[in-house]
Amino acid sequence: MTSTEYTTLQDAPAASAFVPSPASPYQGDIARYWDQEARPVNLRLGDVDGLYHHHYGIGDIDRTALGDPADSEYEKKLIAELHRLESAQAEYLLDNLGSVGRGDTLVDAGCGRGGSMVMAHQRFGCDVEGVTLSAKQADFANRRAAELGIEDSVRARVCNMLDTPFATGQAAASWNNESTMYVDLHDLFAEHSRVLRTGGRYVTVTGCWNPRYGQPSKWVSQINAHFECNIHSRREYLRAMADNRLVPHAVVDLTAATLPYWELRATSSLVTGIEEAFINSYKDGSFQYLLIAADRV
Ligand SMILES: C[S@@+](CC[C@H](N)C(=O)[O-])C[C@H]1O[C@@H](n2cnc3c(N)ncnc32)[C@H](O)[C@@H]1O
Repeated sequence: MTSTEYTTLQDAPAASAFVPSPASPYQGDIARYWDQEARPVNLRLGDVDGLYHHHYGIGDIDRTALGDPADSEYEKKLIAELHRLESAQAEYLLDNLGSVGRGDTLVDAGCGRGGSMVMAHQRFGCDVEGVTLSAKQADFANRRAAELGIEDSVRARVCNMLDTPFATGQAAASWNNESTMYVDLHDLFAEHSRVLRTGGRYVTVTGCWNPRYGQPSKWVSQINAHFECNIHSRREYLRAMADNRLVPHAVVDLTAATLPYWELRATSSLVTGIEEAFINSYKDGSFQYLLIAADRV
C-alpha cells in the first residue's frame, strides 16, 4: 500500500518557494529522510483528526475505548488511542511554555508536519513559526494551516534551526519536540537563547541516554542507526543549557508515562521494527524520555 492511500492530505511536490541548501551533507541526508518519510504510524494517526505528529505518546491506555481485540473495529480504535497519547504529549509540552499571550510569537524548532504548531495556535491564539529541513513537511504543514484558515498565524519554512531568520528576542517561547537529536546542543541552545526574549521559556521533549547507565546502550545505538540521529545524554542537555543562559525550571522524567504507548504500538499493525529497542532501553534504564523546561535569563 502506498502512503498516499493513508493520507487525507496528499504529499505535494517539494515547496516551490526558495529552499536553502542544507548547511552540511548530514543535514541533506536528514532533509531527504523526512521528505521521503510516509510511515503509516505517522500518517494514519494524523488522519484521525488532522493533527499530524512525528513524536511519541504519553499517558495511560484507555482500555474501555480500545474495547475487544477480536472486534473488527479494534485496529481503528487502537490507532485513535495512539493518536490521543501523542496529542497528550504535545499538550503537556504546551502546558510547560508558561504564559503566552495572543500577540506573542512562538518558535517550533524541527516542526515536522506541524501538529504541535496548530495545537499551540488553537490554545494561545498566537503566531507560531516552525522550521524543518524537509520541504515536503513544510508544504504539508502550511497546507494544513490553510485548510484550517490559520495560515496568517501558523507558518512552516524550510530552514536550519541552528541558523534561523527570526529576530533576536522575537519569541516568547520556543521548543523542540523530539528534534534535538539531529544537532549539536550547544549550537542549538545558542540559537534558542538568541531568539528568545529575556524571561522567555524554552521546552524540549526528548529521548536521552542516561549517564547513570555509563554510555549509550546497544538499544540506544540501534535507535540512532534507525533514525540516522545522535541521541545526547541527559548531562549534555543540562550542560549546554547552562552554557547558553537557559536555566531549567522543570526536568520531568516521562519514561514511565511513555512505555504504555510503546507497548500498545508494539501490538499493532503499524510496527516499524524499532519498538523493541525503545521498550528495552526504557526498561533497562539506559534511555529516558524527558521534558526539560528552561527559563531564558
Ligand atoms: C522526529 S521529527 C519531529 C517533528 C515535530 N517536532 C513533531 O513533534 O511532530 C524531527 C524533525 O526535526 C527536523 N530537523 C532535524 N534537524 C533539523 C535542523 N537542523 N533544522 C531544522 N529542522 C530539523 C526534521 O526536519 C523533522 O521535522
